[in-house]
Amino acid sequence: MKVIAIQGSPHRGNTYDRVEDFERAVVDLGNVEFTHIPLCEIRLEGCRGCFLCFSKGEESCPISDDLKLIREKIEEADAVVFATPVYSMHISYLMKLLVDRLAWKFHRPSYFGKYAVGLAVTGAVGLRETLKYIQMFSEGWGFQYAGSLRHKDPPRNTAMPQFKQGKSEVRDLAEKLHRLMLTNPPRKLRMNDHLMFHAMRTVYSRMKEYSPADYEYWKSKGWLDPGARYFTENARVGFLKSIYPRLLSGIIGRSMDKSLSKSRETEK
Ligand SMILES: Cc1cc2nc3c(=O)[nH]c(=O)nc-3n(C[C@H](O)[C@H](O)[C@H](O)COP(=O)(O)O)c2cc1C
Repeated sequence: MKVIAIQGSPHRGNTYDRVEDFERAVVDLGNVEFTHIPLCEIRLEGCRGCFLCFSKGEESCPISDDLKLIREKIEEADAVVFATPVYSMHISYLMKLLVDRLAWKFHRPSYFGKYAVGLAVTGAVGLRETLKYIQMFSEGWGFQYAGSLRHKDPPRNTAMPQFKQGKSEVRDLAEKLHRLMLTNPPRKLRMNDHLMFHAMRTVYSRMKEYSPADYEYWKSKGWLDPGARYFTENARVGFLKSIYPRLLSGIIGRSMDKSLSKSRETEK
């Protein structure tokens, strides 16, 4: 089983050490190959804002750098640890850079069947906001979120006291991730998961003209088929939990149809 850790710290500091703690815990459980991907050692340029990845497809991105290597590593992995220091109450700029370069994945999610772990290291505050964001983007791209690791480490080169690490939390999450990777159980869907699927489906089914890459992707996956229930087959789709999202998506759809036909009339 392959686990990769994508690290957003600009140096091999506290975040790197905390990832190594998790590496030891998960590798000890057996049959795990663990790879570190420190973003500070990778050629990764900032998004230029052209929006071509969304509208025409990711292959239209004008930047040629090592993002493709990171994408290959994610494709091969069973689980990805997204690790970042808390800088100014949020993920680091390097992690944000990666999120922006993969932002089209929010429209065309693909990482179903893979697990994500969020790991954040702070001097004192900001863990909640940072980890919530990691959970949001990883789930948005299709990962199943296995859990978060919260660490407090004072900045290097200061005399601030060290906090004690919660070793049991690291071990518990390593065990949970290991079990999930081994058994790959059906995803238990929350109301929000249904909502995401049905709302996005409603939008992209109407986007053939405006966002062809998104439309074609959704169509090719069978997600626009009348009976489509969720992104992946490996999910427990509770019918009751899907009623409200379906109703709401119907309302969104009708209101979109109205605005689209109005704007077509104005164009004439
Ligand atoms: C630019 C910068 C911004 C920071 N912002 C915060 C912050 O908002 N809240 C906080 O509690 N600690 C903050 N810290 C402290 C780091 O989160 C903490 O030292 C962390 O352990 C650093 O991990 P690293 O060694 O991987 O960089 C900041 C540190 C730096 C360098």
